Amino acid sequence: MLVAGLLNGSEVFVTLLLFLTFITYQLLKDYVHKWRELKPVPGISPTYPFLGNALNFKSNGRDFFCQVVGYTKEFWNSPLFKLWIGPVPFLILYHADTIETVLSNPVHMDKAYAYKFLHPWLGTGLLTSTGDKWRHRRKLLTPTFHFSILTEFLEVMNEQGEVLIEKLEKQAGKGPFNCFNHITLCALDIICETAMGKKIYAQSNHDSEYVRSVYRMSDIITRRQRMPWYWPDFVYNYFGEGREHNRSLKILHSFTESVINERTEYITYVESDSESDQGTRKRRAFLDMLLKTTDEDGKKLTHKDIQEEVDTFMFEGHDTTAAAMNWAIHLLGSHPEVQKKAQQELFEVFGESERPINTEDLKKLRYLECVIKESLRLFPSVPFFARTICEDTQISGYKVPKGANVIIITYALHRDPRFFPDPEEFRPERFLPENCVGRHPYAYIPFSAGLRNCIGQRFAIMEEKVILASILRYFNIVACQKREELRPLGELVLRPEQGIWVTLERRKH
Ligand code: HEM
Ligand SMILES: *[C@@H]1O[C@H](CO)[C@@H](O)[C@H](O)[C@H]1NC(C)=O
Repeated sequence: MLVAGLLNGSEVFVTLLLFLTFITYQLLKDYVHKWRELKPVPGISPTYPFLGNALNFKSNGRDFFCQVVGYTKEFWNSPLFKLWIGPVPFLILYHADTIETVLSNPVHMDKAYAYKFLHPWLGTGLLTSTGDKWRHRRKLLTPTFHFSILTEFLEVMNEQGEVLIEKLEKQAGKGPFNCFNHITLCALDIICETAMGKKIYAQSNHDSEYVRSVYRMSDIITRRQRMPWYWPDFVYNYFGEGREHNRSLKILHSFTESVINERTEYITYVESDSESDQGTRKRRAFLDMLLKTTDEDGKKLTHKDIQEEVDTFMFEGHDTTAAAMNWAIHLLGSHPEVQKKAQQELFEVFGESERPINTEDLKKLRYLECVIKESLRLFPSVPFFARTICEDTQISGYKVPKGANVIIITYALHRDPRFFPDPEEFRPERFLPENCVGRHPYAYIPFSAGLRNCIGQRFAIMEEKVILASILRYFNIVACQKREELRPLGELVLRPEQGIWVTLERRKH
């Protein structure tokens, strides 16, 4: 503005033109540099300047994901290949050793561009932050996932599992139904209560505004990620779903904000009232620990910091687990011999008793754990994720320039026949300890690996065990879909296009 005031019209125009030329020149230089450096990396053809391979891509999300998985088969004998999405190069990785090169190197910790669209919702919480902020937060948050708190969460999981069983009870013996939403709402109830200490009763009341907004927001964001023309904010605001996006955002943020305020008041109240009786004490939630945590200098997190983390847990912590449980239910329902074995194990632990599951039980459910792991191998809830290469590097002898994006396709990695013979077969025994000996440590990474792996993985496995065990104790599952009918939608979270259709038979009366 100031500059414009000192210049007349034509000077402004010339300055602007020079500026634009400069920017274009810089971008072009950068583009040509990357193009040259990446020339030796195998890629698909035809690749056009600026458009890249965009003309070859399927336009909808599911087909695009299938297409990329198809390319990994085509390029199986090469350590990696490249795709140009418009002017941006992506290196696709699907072999254990190349993935290890990237994930085990603490330099490449930053998230790729596509995560930017999560920022308005999640701020820069643990999932989306980079550099020192991420390191600081990770250090602060790691203790909040300590075993002792997970034990308290077990109560919540048992309770919500019971609510789920009551709902499924109504479907039992009545023919095929889609269990996807039942499971998802259960996962949502669990994460709300453990992360925020707030019951939202999603399972009994699906019409919560907050719940609806969580779904709308995930939808809105994945749509934008797929449509590069909506990437610039002004295009998105004027021509895209900007309004819709902001409306959902407001609902999401005011909900978590009010929960945080409520909880803060509650904690101050309890602390000032030392007489408060233990019996009525509320259970702890992640939020309580965040409110109390201090760093080395004794500084507390601000409410805004806390909100970022709570929103992050809400986003990362329920869709992923819900999808994983749903895939496991399908697989159990289509492999009766596996299901019997898991039920036999449950019988050995619980007998005829209907008591809730405790931590000792969890340790004994070893076969069920193999079932969960094998399901996550075939259907990893996070089917791919991305990183930015933060300094020039070598991957299997190929030079990769700083700033390149890497996409790790877990879904393809987990189907490597060298580590998992007959990869499409569902065989939980693959994960018995004796069968894991000598397997490449990066051959199986549903929770990512290295410093930036999933902080919630023990929580997730625990939740899956509790919910699946509850279902298997009461019902026999029969899957009503064939594998080919499932058609995985590869968006942020891997989901079956038409849900999971099963019939349930009651085992007890
Ligand atoms: C089956 C369930 C789950 C799967 C498959 C899963 C998978 C993953 C993966 C692959 C990443 C790395 C993402 C990336 O690098 O872009 C990740 C990160 C993360 N996950 Fe999970 N996750 C699950 C459940 C959970 C739960 C229950 C929580 C929280 C309660 C959680 C919280 C997080 C957070 C905060 C990060 C970011 C960690 C960081 O960058 O330091 N996840 N998860
Ligand atoms: C959405 O909110 C952002 C940030 O507050 C604002 O810049 C943008 O103009 C809003 N978009 C629309 C379409 O209202």
